[in-house]
Amino acid sequence: MRLNGFERLVVNNPVRAWLQHHFETPRLLEMGGRCDGELALEIGGGQGEGARVIQQRFGASEVVSVDLDLAMSQRARQRCGETPGLHFIQADCTALPLPSHSVGALFDFGVIHHVPQWQDAVVELDRIARPGARLYAMEVYRALICHPLWRRVLEHPQHNRFSHDEFIEAWQQQGWQLLGQQTLTQGMGWAVLEKPR
Ligand SMILES: C[S@@+](CC[C@H](N)C(=O)[O-])C[C@H]1O[C@@H](n2cnc3c(N)ncnc32)[C@H](O)[C@@H]1O
Repeated sequence: MRLNGFERLVVNNPVRAWLQHHFETPRLLEMGGRCDGELALEIGGGQGEGARVIQQRFGASEVVSVDLDLAMSQRARQRCGETPGLHFIQADCTALPLPSHSVGALFDFGVIHHVPQWQDAVVELDRIARPGARLYAMEVYRALICHPLWRRVLEHPQHNRFSHDEFIEAWQQQGWQLLGQQTLTQGMGWAVLEKPR
């Protein structure tokens, strides 16, 4: 689901980039470590800062950053220029143009809660992940998405949303193992999981 005008402003600005670098990245690195030399996939890459973080801070050699919204992919490409190793393409995270078992690190900076049938995204990401791949995720949960105040300003699917535990369970059902987790109230959290080798 594409962002409404307000959320577009929330994610397309320097404050969001600062938060990704200084608030989210340290947590995810502490839980899951770096992914040096890996091919990484970022879903819902937005303005492109996540791809920079994945290359510079996590050490991925190549980053494929997909976004459902063509305008977002174009903005990311403009912001990041022709940085070698960063690739921005328009694609849906439930139908990725990547071969099975090809990716060593998956990044979800607040995207899966935008997918109406979010369980399909989990199955698709599991398909393209190689054995031993890691998922680094920051997610937003039912408690926040379905809160009357947030519903007034942000636009998200309201049915079939998930809690932190339900998000982790969906990955565990695919066989993934939890390496670390942290929540910030019931509305937001981080998790790193690993696909069995
Ligand atoms: C909340 S924004 C997060 C953007 C960026 N990851 C960040 O942290 O700033 C969610 C992004 O996911 C994209 N998106 C929504 N549904 C998607 C889908 N099914 N597949 C790929 N991207 C999707 C939106 O266009 C938007 O850019």
